[in-house]
Amino acid sequence: RDGAFVPAVVVGTGYGAAVTALRLAEAGERVLMLEMGRWWDRPGADGRVFCGMLDPDRRSSWFRTRTAAPLGSFLWLDVVDRNIEPYAGVLDRVDFGSMAVYAGRGVGGGSLVNGGMAVAPRRDYLQRVLPRVDAAEMYRRYFPRARAMLRVNGIDRTWFEGTEWYRYSRVAREQAARAGLRSVFLDNVYDFRHMRREADGTAPRSALAGELIYGNNHGRMSLDKTYLAAALRTGRVTIAPLHRAKSLRRRRAGGYVLTVERSDETGRRTAVKEIGCRRLFLGAGSLGTTELLLRARETGALPDLGPEIGRGWGPNGNVMAARANHGTDPTGCHQSTVPALGLDDWDDPRHPVFAEVTPVPAGTETWISLYIAITRNPERGTFVYDRATDRMGLRWTRDQNRPAVDAARSFFDRVNRANRTDYRYDLFGPRAKAFADDFTYHPLGGCVLGRATDSYGRIPGHPGLYVTDGSLVPGSLGVNPFLTITALAERNIERIVRQDVLPASGR
Ligand code: FDA
Repeated sequence: RDGAFVPAVVVGTGYGAAVTALRLAEAGERVLMLEMGRWWDRPGADGRVFCGMLDPDRRSSWFRTRTAAPLGSFLWLDVVDRNIEPYAGVLDRVDFGSMAVYAGRGVGGGSLVNGGMAVAPRRDYLQRVLPRVDAAEMYRRYFPRARAMLRVNGIDRTWFEGTEWYRYSRVAREQAARAGLRSVFLDNVYDFRHMRREADGTAPRSALAGELIYGNNHGRMSLDKTYLAAALRTGRVTIAPLHRAKSLRRRRAGGYVLTVERSDETGRRTAVKEIGCRRLFLGAGSLGTTELLLRARETGALPDLGPEIGRGWGPNGNVMAARANHGTDPTGCHQSTVPALGLDDWDDPRHPVFAEVTPVPAGTETWISLYIAITRNPERGTFVYDRATDRMGLRWTRDQNRPAVDAARSFFDRVNRANRTDYRYDLFGPRAKAFADDFTYHPLGGCVLGRATDSYGRIPGHPGLYVTDGSLVPGSLGVNPFLTITALAERNIERIVRQDVLPASGR
């Protein structure tokens, strides 16, 4: 039996998925969205939906017994993480040996946990990484559409220059300027007007109360407030949380059948369902989408999926670094969690770096400047399916991050030389380490546009099967990815609605 039938299923509720569901529904399609995480709309016993970074509880993490914060230590001591009860928490860390990937879990995907930085890539770099995409059209049409829908906004410069909450950014800017490095303001989807009210004491605090990677209780324009809210308003979209798409196969009458596991928030499986559809859109993120397709190919369910599935993965050259400032350069006890400033050295021919100044919201003076650097690392990883464990692994060695670390070192050595400062070696685990190169916030690739799919995310030879998320981008973008993932999904679904959906429906 092929089970229940829905015309269109979208797996995931992150950026690519949310755009796709909205535009399909506007075109008249009925859409079911499957999301393995929970809805984050009900307060817990403490009256808050999300927990903070300094007091993490089970809501913080996806089925772990201890939190795994990116900045895991202080003076090499394991004082940041907490023991917790396993639960369907909002932030996942998927460990693949020498690389770990952070990802959001819940209705809204990465938009629930990310830094909110909405940055468009350099036009020449976009052209280089996605040569099949008309860059001019992206900047003219799809980036503006994505920015408007996501409610991207900028910080008030006068407020930025005066407020204690961004002293850490101003200090980092001054030090970068001494090294001849240019700084740029970063737009965000956190509502900066709300943040100013937080500072005035007229709105409840979130960014100014140490909330970010485990969710924001106020101020954040996550997808459940933007694209997904619009999708639900059409009346044609249903979101099924705590539903994990496990496998897919062809449907006899055309289309696809998904096997879906439903669980409760403690991880207990409560049902296994089969859902048939005419069109299947995979928006489960770089890891989720690639795993579904690899499993389908390797188990023989969809044996004709091509060899490009699983290839072209990269961590967007992510490297984290921290510097120790002089006692005369305090970075402030009060730090907004929302980054607002970047240091742009992407034009450096040997070591292009785009580094964002990130907070250390410890509530006390630390004299630390912390950065997430995006570098141009040409190395790529490959996903492989392991039949014995029925799980996906990543072929990625520690050495493959060498180009990223070399670039970060060249960049921050310049800042240190100009300011006579040094790195902090105590923040990234129990061993002395200046660069965190073993995790990424920006998993990209696995089903690359124009290689694993056609130029619009269609999987060749598989009518009605589409990819619509970060797995389309081949490993590197030069900036934070969600604005591009959103704009690309807008571009792709516009074409798919016009060429595939409307002609078939007779609308
Ligand atoms: P995304 O990961 O958003 O969504 C996929 C969804 O599918 C998830 O909700 C997941 O639970 C669900 N799913 C997966 N497998 C499934 C299955 N089998 N069945 C059902 N559901 C499934 N980017 C940026 O531009 N600016 C920034 O400031 C930051 N900062 C940042 C900080 C942190 C801590 C993280 C973790 C990430 C960022 N990012 C970021 C990255 C950004 O969040 C990321 O690039 C996007 O969320 C990726 O969007 P996608 O649409 O690809 O998937």
